[in-house]
Amino acid sequence: MADDPNAWWREGVLYQVYPRSYMDADGDGVGDLRGVIDRLDHLQWLGVRGIWLSPITVSPNADFGYDCADYCDVDPSLGTLADADELIAEAGRRGIRVLLDLVPNHTSIEHAWFREARASRDNPKRHWYVWADPAPDGGPPNNWTASFGGPAWTLDETTGQYYLHNFLPAQPDLNWWNEDVRAAFDDILQFWFDRGVAGFRVDVAHMMVKDAQLRDNPPAQDGDPFMYRMLGQRPVHNWCQPEVHEVHRRLRAVAESYDPPRLLVGETFLVEIEDVLKFYEGGDQFQLSFNIPFAHCSFDAAVLADAIERTERGLPPGATPVWTGSNHDISRFPSRWGGGDPDRARCALVMLLTLRGTVFLYEGDEIGMVDTPLEYAQMLDPVGLKFWPYAGRDPVRTPMQWANVPGGGFTRAGVEPWLPFGDLACNVGEQRHDPDSFLSLCRDLVALRDALADLRAGAFTPLGAPDGVLAYRRGERVVVAINLGATTATVEGAAGVVRCCTDRARDGERVDGAMPLPPSTAAVVLTDAP
Ligand code: NOJ
Repeated sequence: MADDPNAWWREGVLYQVYPRSYMDADGDGVGDLRGVIDRLDHLQWLGVRGIWLSPITVSPNADFGYDCADYCDVDPSLGTLADADELIAEAGRRGIRVLLDLVPNHTSIEHAWFREARASRDNPKRHWYVWADPAPDGGPPNNWTASFGGPAWTLDETTGQYYLHNFLPAQPDLNWWNEDVRAAFDDILQFWFDRGVAGFRVDVAHMMVKDAQLRDNPPAQDGDPFMYRMLGQRPVHNWCQPEVHEVHRRLRAVAESYDPPRLLVGETFLVEIEDVLKFYEGGDQFQLSFNIPFAHCSFDAAVLADAIERTERGLPPGATPVWTGSNHDISRFPSRWGGGDPDRARCALVMLLTLRGTVFLYEGDEIGMVDTPLEYAQMLDPVGLKFWPYAGRDPVRTPMQWANVPGGGFTRAGVEPWLPFGDLACNVGEQRHDPDSFLSLCRDLVALRDALADLRAGAFTPLGAPDGVLAYRRGERVVVAINLGATTATVEGAAGVVRCCTDRARDGERVDGAMPLPPSTAAVVLTDAP
């Protein structure tokens, strides 16, 4: 792994930190960068090669960091630039690279660029954003709806035009047709790359460019995917415009101008796998794109096999898929896939950590943290507040559960965390010393990936298996079998030694070609050398 400058992200496991919820070093109830530094030893012990920090830049927090008011400074509630520098250096000392979150689709309404842009129609920053005259009836210029509900346009009374916002009105969309905007982001990338940042996760990467003529979207139809029905329209003119790929290529060129090249990972929150794969075409866009359609699959062997195989088949040669089960926007996989059943969650963990490509774990995945049920009065996420009883994203953003003590090991005893704790009975401290815990399984699987070249980089080959079983070979000698069915299955063709089983009592077991696998059990077998 050492010789290839890209191997750390192609083969290693990456880990998402949501800084407000990871570790609160200054005792104000909100996680911070010094807290992340304090927990780097945990990440090193777990064996991760890189971390992605959700936004740390200055934000009024209308959307908790995803509304940025200054791309080149740290939000005071999280720390300082010096803390960021120290975090990058301390992580590096432990062999961990740091990715930041870049939010180029929109800024905060409080960003200096937008303040200028809205000052007058002839302000030099005006066309850094997307403005349009009202429709003849005085309403919005077109029918686009925002991902967070309502029209995607807000009238600016002072200048008499509407500005575009595909998320909240407090998140005006930048105009990526404007060369000055493109150049400004080249500079932002360089600012952070020069500080030692290893790359960026790029927020809503597929939406950065909009139809230049601002044409209406067609209405959603019965049978359309949930996301389109929620928008009330098919987002054909504000998502995935052909020109977005050129913008990605430009950012990639900046990343490639560094030695070693920096990594860009697109947040392609799309419905179809085939649409995600377009962001790999040519090999000169971002190196990675999140496979959100896979994360949204039901936890069913046939459905997962189809999604994995379509991803593998559709990728250009040499491209690396991304596998993730949880993040700060979607239900955690132990809840969504596991349904609260720890054995099924263990199966999901085996799947994630044995597929070919880059794995992103989300903080808490390593202990099997589930979504935290919250009351309406406890919620802060604008999405949850708007769409209640859909609980929004706060249930997956509650503080990391380090210990079953007052403050949860996250903050000081007696301090109210910014979001309530989940069930502290599930915590790092206790699981760390239990060889049968979720955390031990996670760490052992990460170590097994490191130990076996087939698991790190070997080709993915689907294997025939009984109904309900997801089975595949990695490289020459690793076979993975996951029984998601209701009855014990016999998996044929793997003669060798069980290197890791969700039933830890079976680790080391010899199997001779017909492996019995009870329901909700997964095994990684190193088959005998030919
Ligand atoms: C995707 C981010 O992950 C999410 O948290 C945010 O609200 C939207 N993009 C808007 O930036």
